[in-house]
Amino acid sequence: MAKPPTASDTGVAARRSAVYLLDQILGQGRLMPELVGAGALDRLPADDRARAQRLALDTLRGLERADRLLHKHLRKPPALTVRNALRLGTVELCQGGAAHGVVNALVDVIASDRRNAKLKGLVNAVLRKIATDGPEAWAALRVPRLPKWLRGPLADAWGSETIAAIEAAHFAGAPLDLTAKTDPQAVAAAVNGIVLPTGSVRVADAGQVTALAGYATGDWWVQDAAAALAVRLLSPKAGETILDMCAAPGGKTMQIAASGAQVTAVDDSATRMARVQDNLDRTGLKADLVVADGLTHSGLYDAILLDAPCSATGTIRRHPDLPFAKDGSEFGALIELQSQMIDHMWTLLKPGGRMVFCTCSLLPDEGEVQIEEALGRHADMQVERAALNIDGVDPDWVTSEGGLRLRPDYWAAQGGMDGFYMACLRKMGG
Ligand SMILES: C[S@@+](CC[C@H](N)C(=O)[O-])C[C@H]1O[C@@H](n2cnc3c(N)ncnc32)[C@H](O)[C@@H]1O
Repeated sequence: MAKPPTASDTGVAARRSAVYLLDQILGQGRLMPELVGAGALDRLPADDRARAQRLALDTLRGLERADRLLHKHLRKPPALTVRNALRLGTVELCQGGAAHGVVNALVDVIASDRRNAKLKGLVNAVLRKIATDGPEAWAALRVPRLPKWLRGPLADAWGSETIAAIEAAHFAGAPLDLTAKTDPQAVAAAVNGIVLPTGSVRVADAGQVTALAGYATGDWWVQDAAAALAVRLLSPKAGETILDMCAAPGGKTMQIAASGAQVTAVDDSATRMARVQDNLDRTGLKADLVVADGLTHSGLYDAILLDAPCSATGTIRRHPDLPFAKDGSEFGALIELQSQMIDHMWTLLKPGGRMVFCTCSLLPDEGEVQIEEALGRHADMQVERAALNIDGVDPDWVTSEGGLRLRPDYWAAQGGMDGFYMACLRKMGG
């Protein structure tokens, strides 16, 4: 397994880091944000850090195709680090990378890895063959599929045609979406983006986010267009007391705060909550931050947003490491936690108040089924369908129980959206 990189040398350092990330994700089941948060890329300059992550994520999106192409050039699979260098090289070469630069850099990566240095000749020979015949063969291969543990339940829920469309969206990756603090048109003009039908701003080739106009002045924050809809369902009003439960890193906290409501944001992760504070500082917005287990939180609120912890299977376009690092074994515990959280949040809501429940999941058990079951447990709970009357929301996205099902294959021509489920619940009485 490759060692964490220590030095920067153009092209080679970023690729060495990308191979390290791939080793950790595919060999150790670790997730990209966890690796980056633990400092895996800290010794690289900012542009190499971004490049290493992009290369690793692109490789994961194309992994199935890369393995198919490499299969015919390898008598037996080499050690994981060498395999990952070959996978990375194959993806780069088949997606238009210049053969000379890609091959030399990856040969250097392996040559400088003591345990695998003797295989640098193999890397050179295989990648030169891929450079010649890879790109054409690549284009003829099927869209990479989700692993069976995830494809099975999703195909049961949505059918095989929809799964194929979702997989195409995963393979395509995701553009950058922004939420404007006040004026989406002005933000779109400043960053050379477009305003989507629901009001988010989309940027096709964003480059470094912190270099975009309006970042330093806090005119916007990064938030997927589907994620931004949850607060639109809640429709916070100035002066209301609103609980933002499971708030970090704070995209929805900022949306609520921008409405003039009084926000209490709760999350049980101090590290992630520090990012909420950073985001509030940058955008000049205010919220009360509480680091605590949401199941022990007390109070009484006009409205609640519950963005519950979930499988995050709706975010695979942006996080292609997820299907490789996970195996579904945590689904049961997450589903149980979500229903406990719904029940506890219901006790914190004033009669007559409203609660939006959402998850960035594609599994009905974390969405539609949660709400059907919650309605069975709470006689004073009703789904508020009127909350879905939002510009740009397609009536076809509305589910039978009155929630919104958002999928990565929606808006395919404009670049898709994350998978989400959300519903607005009214507490009767009051
Ligand atoms: C889907 S993320 C929230 C995203 C956030 N609402 C946003 O829009 O930026 C789920 C969050 O739930 C938090 N969490 C998980 N279990 C929790 C618990 N028992 N109590 C409070 N927060 C919890 C995690 O730390 C994580 O930040």
